[in-house]
Amino acid sequence: ARVVVLVSGSGTNLQALLDAVAEGGAAYGAEVVAVGADRDGIEGLRRAERAGVPTFVCRVRDFATRAEWDAALAGAVAAHRPDLVVSAGFMKIVGTAFLAAFGGRTVNTHPALLPSFPGAHGVRDALAHGVRVTGCTVHFMDAGVDSGPIIAQEAVAIREADDEAALHERIKDVERRLLVDVVGRLARDGYRIEGRKVHIP
Ligand code: GRF
Repeated sequence: ARVVVLVSGSGTNLQALLDAVAEGGAAYGAEVVAVGADRDGIEGLRRAERAGVPTFVCRVRDFATRAEWDAALAGAVAAHRPDLVVSAGFMKIVGTAFLAAFGGRTVNTHPALLPSFPGAHGVRDALAHGVRVTGCTVHFMDAGVDSGPIIAQEAVAIREADDEAALHERIKDVERRLLVDVVGRLARDGYRIEGRKVHIP
């Protein structure tokens, strides 16, 4: 399966996918055909370049309206003919044009156990709330924020000494493994979404 990955930052989830493709070869079932970002100068783009994967940048400020940015992003992704799009730390909310083109085949990873703690500060919010267990979620993207059908989750215990950075790093260790597993299974085995339920044969 042809996969386009969208990033906004360090891209360690992207790196895990690139490594899985390099190590798994055709048996993994997916290849990263392009990496897109909403900003320049991030490590995620450098990781793609080092792997010889084409990149593109689609910045909101380069467009007169958000809808035009959304359509441009959809076009930039479509140019690479993806079977699956993976949002791995992509920090923008996509709109109707993008979802019309890629809804139902765009996967997002979130560092909390959705529906708890959605949004841009899931790790910080879990810590602040005082939960004992948080984790990560891989889900299909829908029109909401971190609200689409859930594919996989894994719990991560919060420790007394945790601050946001330490906890997020421990979550990301799990998240990278979960994302690599999910992308491989979706690519190899296919899937069916029925309402909020995701079925992978
Ligand atoms: C991940 O935890 C992702 O869930 C969150 O931001 C982080 C991105 O990390 N949205 P990286 O850029 O993949 O290292």
